[in-house]
Formats: sequence, structure tokens, C-alpha cells
Amino acid sequence: MKVKTVDKALQNKQKEVTIQAVKDKQLQVINLTLKRNHYRQDALIEILHKAQESSGYLDVEILGYIAHALKLPLSRVYGVATFYHLFSLKPSGKHTCVVCLGTACYVKGSDKVLAALQQELGIKCGETTSDNEVSLVSARCLGACGIAPAVVFDGEVAGKQTAENVLETIEHWKQKGAE
Ligand code: FES
Repeated sequence: MKVKTVDKALQNKQKEVTIQAVKDKQLQVINLTLKRNHYRQDALIEILHKAQESSGYLDVEILGYIAHALKLPLSRVYGVATFYHLFSLKPSGKHTCVVCLGTACYVKGSDKVLAALQQELGIKCGETTSDNEVSLVSARCLGACGIAPAVVFDGEVAGKQTAENVLETIEHWKQKGAE
């Protein structure tokens, strides 16, 4: 195998490991909250809140996991998640950008990264651009503190991000969209 191919394979492997770490971290937070609340069905809102905090939004897979753990029908959990404005379901943009504002990332400047994205995209955190291209959300610790500040672009974790890096990715998305 060529060196370049090996490098690519290693990079992909590293990406998989990091994505898995983010998922594990979210499940860890959910499991802890479930336990702390003794799997009580009336703790649903708190559990949804913690789940959202750890990844920036809720997706159907996570709602299913919570429904199963609380022995509630998925329709009920989904209904609660869509009824309250403080919950956001998987963002509607073609691309999603999640900026981690957890402590490790924040001290390394993730607030500046978020500010640069908000300015470039002309939207606030939690919003989607009017052309439906990009949704911008934040999370509290993605479980990738070792590579802080971390940003997840379309499900792929990128570490050590700066305002310049993230704007390059946005530019790349724009160019791809225009092709
Ligand atoms: S604080 Fe950002 S990944 Fe942990």
C-alpha cells in the first residue's frame, strides 16, 4: 500500500475513533442522568436537557434510546422534545456545525470560533441560514477535550480549531454547493 493511502486510512480510523468518543460521551451523560433520576418517567425533561447539552441537539436515535430506558413510547418522548422551544431536534440545514463550548474548549478560544462563524454566516447559534445550507449549534463537552477546541462538521470531529480553520471549511461547503 502507498504511504498516502496508509495515511488516509489512518486518518479515517482516527476520525471514527473520535466520532465514537463523542457518541460514547453523550450516552455516558444520558446514562448518568437516568441513574441519578432512578429512571423516573417524570424526569424526562431533565434527561432531554442533559442529552441536548452534550451534543447540541437531539436526534431520533437518542430519543429512541431515552424512550426505551424510561419505558415510554417514542411518540411521547418525541412529542415532548418538539413541544418545548428549549429543545432542538437535528438541525435542518444541509450542513451542521457544532461548536463545543465546554470548559476545555472555551479556555482555548471556542467562543472566538463561534463568534467568527456567527458573523460569517449571519446567524446566531441554534439557527440555520436562510438558504438552508448551514445550521450552527453549540454543545457542552463533546468528549474530545484532548483536541480542544473541538468543532463537529457534518458529524466529523475536527480538533484544535481556529477562526481561520472553521471559515475555510465553511468556504469549502459554499464552493461545493455552487458546483
Ligand atoms: S470541552 Fe470541548 S470537547 Fe470537552
